[in-house]
Amino acid sequence: MSDVVGEPLIHLTGVSKVYRSEVETVWAARNVDFVARPGEFVCIYGASGSGKSTLLNLLAGLDLADSGVVQVGGVDVSSADESQRAQLRLRTVGVVFQDNNLIEEFTAIENVALPLEARGIPAADTVAEAVEQLGRVGMAGLEHRLPRQLSGGQRQRVGVARALTGQRAVLLADEPTGALDSAATQDLFALIRTLCDQGILAVICSHDPRCRAYADTLYEVIDGQLEPR
Ligand SMILES: Nc1ncnc2c1ncn2[C@@H]1O[C@H](COP(=O)(O)OP(=O)(O)O)[C@@H](O)[C@H]1O
Ligand SMILES: [Mg+2]
Repeated sequence: MSDVVGEPLIHLTGVSKVYRSEVETVWAARNVDFVARPGEFVCIYGASGSGKSTLLNLLAGLDLADSGVVQVGGVDVSSADESQRAQLRLRTVGVVFQDNNLIEEFTAIENVALPLEARGIPAADTVAEAVEQLGRVGMAGLEHRLPRQLSGGQRQRVGVARALTGQRAVLLADEPTGALDSAATQDLFALIRTLCDQGILAVICSHDPRCRAYADTLYEVIDGQLEPR
């Protein structure tokens, strides 16, 4: 396992998120305290509906807590406005979902370059970095393929490369292997392990028990509560 060192990149204190309807109150996050550091591979598991996606969305600034403080990469997500949270995702935090939403008309390079273009970086530089990131995830030589010309595992690698472009330090993934076969699942967790050994902080929600073997830190979410395991 890697050296997990340095100041926390993620720091949650007393974070809660509640959904209330006329018939029930659901604690999607209940008084969550959570700290994670550069180089750390965090695996979060738990039953369906326990609050895993809620937690990742709070970390990504895609959702806002009802109470508590969410700090990611020095940004106070809880008090940031929408454009500051968008900047957080472009500069600090990359997100990968089960169904990677690659743009089907774009090549792997074009997909990976998108977050850099959104930051106004010149095309020549975005292409160079996209090629570098694709190499980092084992996709060298396949840069000009369209998503439909790639396997499920290869598509997820492109998604990881896109999430990390722009020297982002935090990778968040919500069931990233949900649509992958056994071999591709193993390969993706091994890739994330390698990225963490290079200093990336990864927070992965996965019900796949194989994730746990690669992680430094394990948590189970039960009714919105984060329990160290
Ligand atoms: N927008 C929403 N409105 C109402 N309830 C929601 C909403 N989003 C999530 N929930 C509820 O919060 C709980 C946690 O959901 P989620 O974080 O998606 O769980 P998981 O990812 O572990 O399956 C579930 O009970 C879910 O039904
Ligand atoms: Mg979920």
